[in-house]
Amino acid sequence: MEKSRIDLPIGVTLDRFIKSNEKDYPTAVGAFSQLLRDIALAAKVVNRELNKAGLVDIMGNVGNANAGGDEQQKLDMLANTRFIRALSKGGEVCGIISEENDSFVDLENDGKYIVALDPLDGSSNIDVNVSVGTIFSIYKRITAINSPLTLEDFLQKGRDQIASGYILYGPSSMLVFTTGNGVNGFTYEPSLGEFVLSNPNIQCHEDGTIYSMNEGLSNSISDSKVKAFINYCKDNEFTARYIGSLVADFHRNLLKGGIYLYPATTKYPNGKLRLMFESNALAFVIEQSGGKATDGNMDILDIQPTSIHHTAALYIGSKNLVNRLS
Ligand code: AHG
Ligand code: MN
Ligand code: MN
Repeated sequence: MEKSRIDLPIGVTLDRFIKSNEKDYPTAVGAFSQLLRDIALAAKVVNRELNKAGLVDIMGNVGNANAGGDEQQKLDMLANTRFIRALSKGGEVCGIISEENDSFVDLENDGKYIVALDPLDGSSNIDVNVSVGTIFSIYKRITAINSPLTLEDFLQKGRDQIASGYILYGPSSMLVFTTGNGVNGFTYEPSLGEFVLSNPNIQCHEDGTIYSMNEGLSNSISDSKVKAFINYCKDNEFTARYIGSLVADFHRNLLKGGIYLYPATTKYPNGKLRLMFESNALAFVIEQSGGKATDGNMDILDIQPTSIHHTAALYIGSKNLVNRLS
């Protein structure tokens, strides 16, 4: 049965919004609400650290590479620590996977939820003061509470997410999420220290004229559908927009209509973007807003991950544009 869409006025705080919607989660009301609050709290802390990033010595590399081979930035690690700390202290989450950690973290508590995190998305933009983000997915644990977690608890399909979303740290910072009942956007009001509802029931246009991809990779893309699509965009004088922070590119296209593409390339034959830390969360958001996300063959949400660092091609955004690549 379709749940009723949220009907609250612009300006209500995240806290009030969560409370008003608790009726949708009769089995896990308090814990799930608290988990969303924990995520909002970590987002505020990371937002604060990012705001002063140019003033103190927290920019630049730490000298390591993460599991995906990217150089880890100091702020990547800082965001990772802040989110994991907030979620561990809350007690609702029993296990965490993060783009920045090689394997899962078992918090050894009786929490019901699993969280997957890209703590800081768009790292290459940190040093140049361009928007970055955090991406999160929430699942229920599968194995019995109070037993050790197993990989099975984490390798769930995106379809099994009970909530997902992102934080965009930009000119103003926003928290956008879905619990499977539409998509709502909250803007951070720093003087109040609160996220307030600014974009209720976000709907993605069925069509759009923005395409977002790293076109510098064109010669290392072999998929003819992608090449044909790029030509289609050019023939129709689409607007090319690519920030290089997935959250920021996704958010713009969600609000304005458009498509984000990261196909398989010579360097990343299975695509670069991580299913469990990036694509699944945004795919749930886009589907809930009326858009679509595929890997060119199937819906992102139906892919069975085979490892926590599983990668896949990603085509995401306005339905009619994504359909051209399916
Ligand atoms: P992250 O900073 O979490 O490693 O993610 C980077 C991702 C994504 O944000 C972005 O859209 C994409 O990588 C950019 O890749 P290219 O530099 O290859 O275009
Ligand atoms: Mn990322
Ligand atoms: Mn990241």
